[in-house]
Amino acid sequence: QLFTGYDEGLVRMEPGGFVMPPSYARNAEKIYRMQPRSDDVWLLTFPKCGTTWTCELLWLLQNNCDFESSRENGTYHPNSVLRVEQLPSPRVLRPHLPFYLLPPQLLDTTKVVYVARNPKDVIVSYYYHHKLIKLHGYIGTLDDFAEYFMNDEVAYAPFFPHILDAWSKRHHPNMHFMFYEDMKRDLRGEIEKVATFLGKSYSDEVMAKLTEHLKFDNFQKNESVNNESGKKMGAMNEDGRFIRKGKTGDWKNHFSPELNSRIDEWIEKNLADSDLKFVTEL
Ligand code: A3P
Repeated sequence: QLFTGYDEGLVRMEPGGFVMPPSYARNAEKIYRMQPRSDDVWLLTFPKCGTTWTCELLWLLQNNCDFESSRENGTYHPNSVLRVEQLPSPRVLRPHLPFYLLPPQLLDTTKVVYVARNPKDVIVSYYYHHKLIKLHGYIGTLDDFAEYFMNDEVAYAPFFPHILDAWSKRHHPNMHFMFYEDMKRDLRGEIEKVATFLGKSYSDEVMAKLTEHLKFDNFQKNESVNNESGKKMGAMNEDGRFIRKGKTGDWKNHFSPELNSRIDEWIEKNLADSDLKFVTEL
């Protein structure tokens, strides 16, 4: 029984038991067969790991830091394959899919940025997301949501294979693996690393402007990314915001000691064979 909240339910795909909305499932084959372009940038994330934030950064770095045009920032989910194929270069694409459902030649053809975030904050953020978006209409508790999450019953689950697959590819020259928590700790430093990875160089003044543009308070007010229009369109509840809190460690305000230890065990079990470590507080 998959946790729903999508009008047509969720679909579990093979390989990997990956859970996705039907719009993706219908296009899975086409997405797998897409032709990546050498001047694309593909941003891969599990939901709520900082996709919107990093996407804006990538788009600006790729487009001369044109802040005016970024209001109509053309970043796409490739679930509309035809539309994505017709986009002019340079494209910034942002599927939430793991590597194993993407074109197999992706990493050898194009640059890929992967953003990871500690799963405790992801659970809290995803819980609020499910309450905010009317389509999901989640009315359960956070504790129940955390169980759905750990049981791989939410969209884009399972969480760990998604991240660990990317982690194993982090030394590939076309791959830049980064953490949400590092962006929180040192935004300018992380922006500089991404710029270097993309082969872009901007003046100190532009880099300072870019850093300001991406700071949480400014970002939350930025109507081209904050999705507040979703409220007018009736897709989002009035109560809550898409660019919500932007903190590392918000889970501490939400988890009971019991839930926290269940989540700790789940993390430990899933990272037993890996050297990946999450930062859960700053
Ligand atoms: P919270 O719900 O913890 O606040 P995504 O874009 O992948 O859906 O991720 C959303 C999360 O990133 C939300 O987390 C959101 O607030 C946070 N976020 C968005 N912009 C941010 C920014 N400029 N600085 C810090 N966090 C940001």
